[in-house]
Amino acid sequence: MMGFIRFILILCFLLPHFHDILCNIDSDRDALLSFKSQLRDPKNYLSSWTSGSNPCIWNGVTCSEVGERVQYLALSELHLSGKLPARLSNLTYLNSLDLSGNNLHGEIPHELGHLQRLQNLDLSNNKLTGKVPPSLGNLFSMKSLVLARNRFEGEIPTELGNLSSLSYLALSDNYFSGELPSSLVNMSSDLKLFHVGHNWLTGNIPPGIKKFQNLLSLSFENNFFSGELPSEMGALQRLQNIDIHGNRLSGQISDIFCNITNLYTLAMGNNQFSGRIPTSIRQCKVLFSLDLRMNRLRGTIPKEIFQLSYLTSLNLAGNSLHGSLPPEVGTMTQLETLDLSSNNLVGPIPVSLENLHYLQKLNLSFNHLEGEVPVKGLFTNLTKFDLRGNNQLCSLNKEIVQNSGVLRCVVGKKKRKILLPIILAVVGATALFISMLFLFWTIKKERKERKTSVSSEPFRGLPQNITYGDIRRATDNFAAENLIGKGVFGSVYKGVFSLSAGETATLAVKVLDLQQSKASKSFNAECEALKNVRHRNLVKVITSCSSLDYNGEEFKALVMQFMPNGNLDLKIHTGDEESGSILTLMQRLSIAIDVASAVEYLHHDCHSPIAHCDLKPANVLLDENMTAHVVDFGLARFLSRNTSEKQSSTLALKGSIGYIAPEYGFGSKASTEGDVYSFGILVLEMFTGKRPTDEMFKEGLSLSKFVSAMDENEVVMMGGARRLIEDYGYSKQSSNSDDHSSGFDSNTHWMRKAEECIADVIRVGLSCTAYQPKERWSMREALSKLQAINHSMLPF
Ligand SMILES: *[C@@H]1O[C@H](CO)[C@@H](O)[C@H](O)[C@H]1NC(C)=O
Ligand SMILES: *[C@@H]1O[C@H](CO)[C@@H](O)[C@H](O)[C@H]1NC(C)=O
Ligand SMILES: *[C@@H]1O[C@H](CO)[C@@H](O)[C@H](O)[C@H]1NC(C)=O
Ligand SMILES: *[C@@H]1O[C@H](CO)[C@@H](O)[C@H](O)[C@H]1NC(C)=O
Ligand SMILES: *[C@@H]1O[C@H](CO)[C@@H](O)[C@H](O)[C@H]1NC(C)=O
Ligand SMILES: *[C@@H]1O[C@H](CO)[C@@H](O)[C@H](O)[C@H]1NC(C)=O
Repeated sequence: MMGFIRFILILCFLLPHFHDILCNIDSDRDALLSFKSQLRDPKNYLSSWTSGSNPCIWNGVTCSEVGERVQYLALSELHLSGKLPARLSNLTYLNSLDLSGNNLHGEIPHELGHLQRLQNLDLSNNKLTGKVPPSLGNLFSMKSLVLARNRFEGEIPTELGNLSSLSYLALSDNYFSGELPSSLVNMSSDLKLFHVGHNWLTGNIPPGIKKFQNLLSLSFENNFFSGELPSEMGALQRLQNIDIHGNRLSGQISDIFCNITNLYTLAMGNNQFSGRIPTSIRQCKVLFSLDLRMNRLRGTIPKEIFQLSYLTSLNLAGNSLHGSLPPEVGTMTQLETLDLSSNNLVGPIPVSLENLHYLQKLNLSFNHLEGEVPVKGLFTNLTKFDLRGNNQLCSLNKEIVQNSGVLRCVVGKKKRKILLPIILAVVGATALFISMLFLFWTIKKERKERKTSVSSEPFRGLPQNITYGDIRRATDNFAAENLIGKGVFGSVYKGVFSLSAGETATLAVKVLDLQQSKASKSFNAECEALKNVRHRNLVKVITSCSSLDYNGEEFKALVMQFMPNGNLDLKIHTGDEESGSILTLMQRLSIAIDVASAVEYLHHDCHSPIAHCDLKPANVLLDENMTAHVVDFGLARFLSRNTSEKQSSTLALKGSIGYIAPEYGFGSKASTEGDVYSFGILVLEMFTGKRPTDEMFKEGLSLSKFVSAMDENEVVMMGGARRLIEDYGYSKQSSNSDDHSSGFDSNTHWMRKAEECIADVIRVGLSCTAYQPKERWSMREALSKLQAINHSMLPF
């Protein structure tokens, strides 16, 4: 019964379009050929576009399931140059047009407004000029309009307010001028992303914005917006990113942020905001970056700011803040940048700042701070802090006095009397300490010389004991051209080792960065244990070397299997540049399964579960058969950051932003759940082609959040996914050429399969990246689901 109704419905749908469908594939072909004739195509990607063939099998073209009409055109990042012809508007069935990242110039023909079915128009990153035609406002089905990074000018057409289905609007980096049309509040209430930054827009931020209850990201930065922030912005509770820096906005920063509890980044710098910093900022518990620089803020810095333990960057420079710096500033352990320069702060620099081990940049210049500069932590490195223009700061450290414009501390007479015995005691203790160190070093060296490396079973004739000298020779004195990669724990070199029989073996050597990470005493024992961790998808650790280098410094390295096909990161993102081929859908699926198997083994089948802690495409290496091998596992267990005792949990945070689980930011211990999160991100990256570190996600909108905010159709329409689907369709179609159905049907059939596959894989990725660690799948579940998906793609 249902089937019959469906049949009738389809028939009803078809009848009026029958003529359209039968007659117009020719006009689609003509439109595409006329487009091609206007293009320069240096990569010859359009060579299949010939007048005698069916456009449905051309590169970059996908046709509809019902009848042969062109539905998707995906030609991103192909170095195409030329103009958009009006004839494109003859593609009346077009659903998605993605021409991003080319060198197209000229204007958008107003005829594109005839493409009634268009849902996705991405022309970003080209050199298009002129005004945006008002006719685009007729595209009522439009979900995603991306015109960023072009040279469009003039006003944003009022008519865009008619786009009542829009979810993504990105007009940033153009020369748009005038005010934001008030009609924009009539866009869909489902709007998730609203980016108009880096234009010449004026006027107020339009009222009525509270309608966009689903908004995740609002970027209005670097324009000429003025007036006050509408207080209704506080109603946009899902917002994760607000960037309005570089405008002429004024007024008090009221408590509008107290309900926006998911906020990751708040950038309001370079405006004319006045008044105090609201204490309600403490509600933004996941805030990552706060920028209020160059405003007219006064009052003291509310101590609530120092309770935002996820914060990595705080910039309040160039205001009129007064009061002193509370010691609590030393509790913001994740802080990387702290800039409070050019204010009226008084009092001493809290010694607790020495505890901020990740702090890379401290700017307290041009205040009225006084007293002695702390001496430890980042204060040992002159390039990391700027204290100029504080007339009453002083230091006993000669180097600081000479190079940072800080005065030498004047030691009063009274103090000197007390100091003398102290100095004597210190000198005595130091001498004793140095002599003990020397003794210790000599003993250690002697021991090392007796036993330079941990022996291991020979690798087809590899010398039993690999020494620093061997490794130095094999890597040609660590030559830059042998450097294969760099990670959190150190650098990897390619090394050619001489074997006993006069032959050579190419191996990879991981030289641990002992400046950054401290090897535990159990290094040798742990390496022995690693050698026993064997799995076909783990890079095999062959031996380790623990000795002194020629300068007498400690040297530790792991010698591992060498993988000729490089790392997955390169293969996902630059594969097509180098070899003209990208990893196919099935190769990607198989690699995802390989990685899942390796991690599942580490989590579930080892003696005690091993968390990887730094899972990401750059740590997945490919052998000559494109089988994936995970590298760098287990290192977190016996290496810890030099900076602090208990920081191994945040190791990954420092290395691989984009892949770390959110809870690591709150100081959670490294865990298998954290690995699952990173794996989920890796999967999303592989199947959408979007990097988690993409420009788009810079404001704390994660890849996972971005993908989960889309529906399935939107995901499979993304450029990267689309191309995988098409390639899969063609390859299957040509390998089944005696299929009884027509070429086109079989192509569509395979593409549907590929779409389902990608949608299923994306669901796995999302289940692995759930915000709460305990809601994530286990690696075992993820693996078995991926295997099932793979199975469903087999022909029988
Ligand atoms: C195709 O587009 C051109 C220019 O817009 C128009 O002149 C022509 O009539 C269209 N052809 C068809 C078949 O619609
Ligand atoms: C589109 O918007 C314009 C201006 O905002 C309006 O005048 C026009 O009637 C709208 N068109 C439709 C079809 O709604
Ligand atoms: C929004 O749409 C409504 C109904 O179509 C219309 O009456 C109103 O004028 C529009 N608002 C703006 C600001 O264009
Ligand atoms: C925050 O939310 C509460 C409850 O929804 C509401 O009463 C209050 O006005 C909101 N505050 C702001 C500043 O938007
Ligand atoms: C510190 O801030 C001052 C004034 O805000 C600025 O001029 C200086 O360049 C900053 N120093 C560094 C190292 O960024
Ligand atoms: C000081 O810090 C800079 C920047 O982080 C770094 O490049 C440099 O190597 C450090 N110098 C020392 C002596 O640690």
